[in-house]
Amino acid sequence: MNPIEIYPARVLRLKAAPVERMTSEIRHLVDHMTEVMYEAEGVGLAAPQIGDSRQVIVVDVGDGPFSLVNPEIVESDSEEVSVEEGCLSLPDIHVHVRRPAAIRIRGLDADGKTVERSLEGMSARAVQHEIDHLRGVLIIDHASAIQKTLLKNRLKRFRE
Ligand code: NI
Repeated sequence: MNPIEIYPARVLRLKAAPVERMTSEIRHLVDHMTEVMYEAEGVGLAAPQIGDSRQVIVVDVGDGPFSLVNPEIVESDSEEVSVEEGCLSLPDIHVHVRRPAAIRIRGLDADGKTVERSLEGMSARAVQHEIDHLRGVLIIDHASAIQKTLLKNRLKRFRE
């Protein structure tokens, strides 16, 4: 069974709560999310996408999986790039999204240790996409006015 929440599920619009304490339950959540991400052939997944409104993300853009709990962007490159993105919660929808090309992120790893990493390229993009999910933001929110008009009918289909 595919446990992924599909737009317009309400949980996708909530602000996810920070994780107060690293427990084995959170580690299991990370493992489960990683499995779901691979099964769905995605490059990232945020906990709200499986109905769990807590600040946990997993990403694997092809160079191995990593997870972050309570992730935050502590630095963003001023150079922005626009790339077409998809989302497991919005099947068959693609939107050009402008994002900083490189970021520095901070969060907790699966052992509860604070980690900081500099990311660029696909991994920077995937992490920003997943952090958006923790704020209740979806790729359709990044669409231009023209794109939004074009998407309107296709999004209506999701509500039926
Ligand atoms: Ni997504």
